[in-house]
Amino acid sequence: MTTTATTPFTYAKSLEAFDRARRVIPAGIPGHQGPTEGCYIPRDAFPLFSSRAEGTRFWDLDGNEYLDYMCGYGPNVLGYGDPVVDEAARRQAALEDVVTIPSTVMVDLAELLVDTVASADWAFFAKNGGDTTTLAVMTARAATMRKKVVFVKGYYHGVAPWTQKLDYPGVLEEDIAHNLSVPWNDLGALEALLREHRGEVAAFISTPYMHGNFVDNELPAPGYWEGVRRLCDEHGVVLIMDDVRAGWRLDLAGSDHHYGIEADLLCFCKAIGNGYNLAALTGRESLRETVASLTYTGSYWMSAVPFAASIATITRLKELDAPAMFRSLGTELTSGLVEAASGHGLTLVASGEPALFYLRLADDDSLMLHQRWVAECVRRGVWFTSHHNHFLNAALTRGDIRRTIEIADEAFGIVAAG
Ligand SMILES: Cc1ncc(COP(=O)(O)O)c(C=O)c1O
Repeated sequence: MTTTATTPFTYAKSLEAFDRARRVIPAGIPGHQGPTEGCYIPRDAFPLFSSRAEGTRFWDLDGNEYLDYMCGYGPNVLGYGDPVVDEAARRQAALEDVVTIPSTVMVDLAELLVDTVASADWAFFAKNGGDTTTLAVMTARAATMRKKVVFVKGYYHGVAPWTQKLDYPGVLEEDIAHNLSVPWNDLGALEALLREHRGEVAAFISTPYMHGNFVDNELPAPGYWEGVRRLCDEHGVVLIMDDVRAGWRLDLAGSDHHYGIEADLLCFCKAIGNGYNLAALTGRESLRETVASLTYTGSYWMSAVPFAASIATITRLKELDAPAMFRSLGTELTSGLVEAASGHGLTLVASGEPALFYLRLADDDSLMLHQRWVAECVRRGVWFTSHHNHFLNAALTRGDIRRTIEIADEAFGIVAAG
């Protein structure tokens, strides 16, 4: 492959802004978008602040342009600033947004979700993915009058204390006292655990496939989800699928549908409104009254603008058959990257679903070679992260993919030479 050598980016303005941020914001940029949580490794390869975004690209404070494969950690599903979604939001904003009683646009969206998501008989709206996973677990506990929840090892379901670990600051033993876990794809372990705790388990909560950080992502083994469904039914356990990350990218009818089952509760957020702030828990008829009985709400949970944006987003995703598009673009991109790596004698492993592909250079167990390759890509305008799955959006073109592979090829050349 012939590539035009590019000049690596520098980040002076980002670093200056981060100095300001550190003085007035704990950690400067808290959480996963900042430098402390470890998604951006090596630290100095990444800028810290963006200034503008459009389509599949964003620009940092120093004016560097990126082909973005993180999509705001998921919400950007159609392209930043999608004109149809933004117009729907503007029209709703001209009418009302946060008001004393809700707009019927909330009902319109709930109807659309019930029509679109195969397992949904109702929808309950909130703001963040964590609001919906917490609501799902509360619902399961209220419905079953049981305390225990089974997780899959390596899980991430948000940051509420019940989702954390005992050695995390601020977490009490009581917060996690009823958490149990099983390995991914291990029906035998789930069956044994449910037998051991017969009559005590309220819920099994899991993402549709294992899209954990720092590990190759794993799809469900044939028969796995059917087996989980059967065990949950046998033991009266509520099956919660956390579709916060994968939702709308694999299947518009829900990732439970994609993998051949119906969950009892399905948690959505990220891609539901193309960046407008919204989350939804959907569920089956049998849990409707339980959800209605819970004390659970928030100041902005009925704001109308995100509902309008979400209707436009889901309608557009359907028109485009976005999941098929993501599968095809993701497969083209990852096979191009794998081939480019092998041209330099390197082995790139692409895992997970193509719409949310995970990458690892397998030639160095310390993962530092992989980090170095990611760094060389980012400094040349392709925004990958070292140890997190990526995301695709519908504004990505085949030309963008070609450009990505060119830059990745140049970066492979640099690390192979090093
Ligand atoms: C699988 C999964 N569940 C839950 C969450 C929490 O969502 P939020 O950060 O919107 O609260 C995330 C966020 O990344 C997630 O990936």
